[in-house]
Formats: sequence, C-alpha cells, structure tokens
Amino acid sequence: MTKKRVLSGVQPTGNLHLGNYLGAIRNWVEVQQEYENYFCVVDLHAITVPHNPKTLADDTYTLAALYLACGIDLNYSTLFIQSHISAHSELAWLLNCITPLNWLERMIQFKEKASKQGENVSVGLLDYPVLMAADILLYDADLVPVGEDQKQHIELTRDLVTRINDQYGTKKEPILKYPEPLIRKEGARVMSLTDGTKKMSKSDPSEMSRINLLDPPDEIAKKIKRCKTDPIKGLEFDNPDRPECHNLLTLYLLLSGKTKAEVQQETCEMGWGQFKPLLADSAIAALEPIQAKYHDIMSDRDYLDSVLREGREKAEVSAHEILGRVKKALGYSTPL
Ligand code: TYM
Repeated sequence: MTKKRVLSGVQPTGNLHLGNYLGAIRNWVEVQQEYENYFCVVDLHAITVPHNPKTLADDTYTLAALYLACGIDLNYSTLFIQSHISAHSELAWLLNCITPLNWLERMIQFKEKASKQGENVSVGLLDYPVLMAADILLYDADLVPVGEDQKQHIELTRDLVTRINDQYGTKKEPILKYPEPLIRKEGARVMSLTDGTKKMSKSDPSEMSRINLLDPPDEIAKKIKRCKTDPIKGLEFDNPDRPECHNLLTLYLLLSGKTKAEVQQETCEMGWGQFKPLLADSAIAALEPIQAKYHDIMSDRDYLDSVLREGREKAEVSAHEILGRVKKALGYSTPL
C-alpha cells in the first residue's frame, strides 16, 4: 500500500521558537514514519515582508539544520529548499490567474500583517497563500501538519483545488488532490510569554515574548522567570480568565511529556514561584539535545549540502510531474 503524503514548511525569518516547534515541527517528527514526507524551508515566503539579503541564505541553512536537529529522519522524509525548485514559483503564477482577488483580501494573516506595514505592503504578502497552495499541491499532499494560524490558508488551497478540477478536469480525472490540515489540539497555538492572549510570534519586537530553539539555558530560565502570570495560587487549564496560566501549563505538558491529568494534579495547588523552575527545567531539558545536534550538523556543511541536494533531486520529480499535469490541463503546449 502506498503511504499518504505529507508536506509542510517554515519560513527562514527570525529565530525558530517554541510555537513553531510545538505547533509544527515536533508533529512532523512524531508522525513521519507513517507517511511519505516532504519538508521544505520556504525561503520564497521569507521575502513577502522586508528582509535582509545578507542573512537570507544563512538563515535558510540554519533552519534546514534545525529540521534535522529536531528529528527529521531522511529515511522517511525529503528535505529541500523551496527556491531551489522553480516549479513552486511557476505553479503559483498559474494559480494566481484563477484566484479571485477577494479570496486573498479576506485572509486573516494578511490583514494582520498588512495592518502592521502601512504603505509598504507588497503584492507578495497578499499572494503568499497562493504560493503556499503551490507548495502543497506540487506534492499531491494528503496532509499538511501546521499550527492553527495556517488553517485558513489550507482551506483556500482546497477551494483552489475545487476551482481547477471543476474548470479544467473531469470527475473521473481530477487534476489536483485535496489536502487536509493536520492540527494537534495541544500546541496548535502557543501564546506569547508576555501576553497570554497573543500568539507567540517571530515578529514580536520583544525577545522576552518567545523562547527560541537556540536560546541558551540561562536565557530560557530568565524568560520563564520574567514571563507574565497572574496573582492566583493554584494552577489550572482552560480558565478563559487565566490565559497565561493555560498557556504555561500547556507548555509544561508538551515539554515534559506528561499527560494533562498528571499536570493538573501536580500543579493544582502550586504557586508560580514553585511552578516556573519546573517549566524552565523541562524546557531546557527538551531543547538541549536539539541544540547539541544542531551544532554538530552545522559543523559539517558538506553533509548538509548533500542532504539538500538529494532532497531537491527527489522533490523535483514530483514537482515537475504535477506542474506538467496542471499546464497540460490549462492547455499549454509541451516544450520542444
Ligand atoms: P511560519 O513560518 O509562520 O510558521 C511555521 C509553522 O509554525 C506554526 N506556528 C505556530 N504554531 C503554534 N503556535 C504558534 N505561536 C505558532 N507560530 C507559528 C505555523 O502554523 C506553521 O505551521 N505559510 C507558512 C509556511 C508555509 C507552509 C507551506 C506551511 C509555506 N508553505 C506549505 C505548510 C505547507 C508560514 O508562514 O509559517
């Protein structure tokens, strides 16, 4: 039986933080043995907001190394860089021409990011979900493991599949496959350490709002020590009046590997002074092996290059086949 396909990616912008890890990459690692996986570093997405050309390439390799350090296993997964496969940009163009503008204008993430940028909003920022759809569709992905904030973009991808299949395919021979989001309940929306009602984000100007995967242990301990809490003793999940409490307990649950019931029982009578060192210790213990592996990988650039070369060669086969399928359906002539 052929395995279902998975595709996902992260942008190489800023540092990878616990939200990216717990909402996405850790879930990729956990399910990778069941599927045929494609994981890319989405560097074309990274220029949808102003970027630094001097650091883009290094940030891209750093993120690829972090994928491996987090446990992406090349026996099950193909790892590549989005911009190394030109079919991503090409399919995005073809999809652009069938995407109604108002579908993009109503994307929540576009509205949020655009409101922060004033006059400088690029067409690329508006178009970003179409490029993401191209990423997914080029691999006939069945499943897309992401955090909650990407769900709307996968719904848009599904709407595009309907449009292409209805307009250019037949019921018997659909052109593109419908992907499903794979979103875990816990960790799907990790919140900021300085405000439990806001998502942990790479673009938050405050470093204290997030724990980065490469933060040294003393930095992690400092951030947790200073993070926002509330004056109530006894910790609990799911109380809407205590968003910080729910977020920090969820982080503890995910990082310590304990169940919700175990965490609830352990912490129901605790004060913050007792809980914070526990959370800091579990965060440090969870990230230490990732950091050690990351430094090993980064010290052998030839190895990383060879992984990415092989990944590109393998991913290109699928990307070319599917791009060809779409071009044929749209009526393009074959290259001579
Ligand atoms: P990006 O780079 O913003 O985030 C990468 C992944 O991390 C998840 N995530 C979070 N999960 C939980 N809590 C948070 N606070 C948090 N912040 C981020 C995101 O949901 C995502 O899964 N458009 C995508 C990248 C992309 C992509 C794709 C993803 C491009 N093409 C194809 C899947 C399939 C993005 O900008 O993610």
